[in-house]
Amino acid sequence: MTEDHTNPASIAFVGCGNLGMAILSRAIASEVIDPATTVVIERDADRRAQASNLGVRATADAAAARGAQLVVLAVKPQHFLEVAEAIGAISNATCVVSVMAGWTSATIRAALSGGGAIAGGPRVVRAMPNMAAQVGVSMTAITQGAGATSDDVADALRLFSAIGKAVEIREELMDAAVAAVGSAPAYLFLLAEAQIAAAQDMGLSAATARAMAIESLLGAATLLASDGREPAQLRAAVTSAGGTTAAAMRVFDQGGFTVMVAAAMEAARARSAELGK
Ligand SMILES: NC(=O)c1ccc[n+]([C@@H]2O[C@H](COP(=O)([O-])OP(=O)(O)OC[C@H]3O[C@@H](n4cnc5c(N)ncnc54)[C@H](OP(=O)(O)O)[C@@H]3O)[C@@H](O)[C@H]2O)c1
Repeated sequence: MTEDHTNPASIAFVGCGNLGMAILSRAIASEVIDPATTVVIERDADRRAQASNLGVRATADAAAARGAQLVVLAVKPQHFLEVAEAIGAISNATCVVSVMAGWTSATIRAALSGGGAIAGGPRVVRAMPNMAAQVGVSMTAITQGAGATSDDVADALRLFSAIGKAVEIREELMDAAVAAVGSAPAYLFLLAEAQIAAAQDMGLSAATARAMAIESLLGAATLLASDGREPAQLRAAVTSAGGTTAAAMRVFDQGGFTVMVAAAMEAARARSAELGK
């Protein structure tokens, strides 16, 4: 962080479930944040114990977030309003980084301004990582929201670099980022599920089918990340005319694979927009 977080609760994590814990543990391990100045607000006792083991203070009292210089908001979107009420008003001296799908920075800011009791409310940055945060290879979309400064964005980019790569986008594209990043691992898990089931139907054992699907995904992603060619070029390179891959591609085409991916992503985008209303 660019600021000096010397206050005993200078960073607060509100909600420390799957994503909050991944960010917290990796940011501590990479020394982006100091556990001695971090507080976790979490209502689940086991998760509080897990956070305490990392050397942070853990409490169920949302008021502990007040006064922190940075508040990472990592509860489900459905819980935001009750959490905002429990936290109460936060001033402009605090930057709130929300990883929630849907809620806009303006709404988050207004909800944390104590019904106008604190003029303006906190500065808000939004971030959309994905589940790969748990293994340090998330992609995170970050946006400079209501009241936030470029320093806030720089701090957020630094925080999220602890869980993988990060890129800045405009806030109106955050629902698209939910579809393109937040929900994206599930698309590939679905593909892996389908490949494993089909390979088993062909007679391969469950363990072999699983290993083949995993290594194929990993190998293709590694190649795509390192090769420099576009996905379509790589696909063309492994699809010889009249060959086996061409036979498979024809079935994907006939089934409308590309159209279906676009429709699925549009559904995720629309659901994100809906969650923020
Ligand atoms: N997981 C992902 O892959 C992913 C990716 C991108 C964005 N996100 C976003 O990240 C956010 C968190 O997702 P998640 O998967 O980490 O959810 P999660 O595992 O359910 O974690 C949220 C945690 O917050 C706790 N909580 C809820 N209300 C609270 C309150 N009033 N006070 C204290 N703690 C409270 C929950 O406790 P209970 O279990 O008791 O409710 C839970 O432990 C969501 O908004 C989601 O949109 C997640």
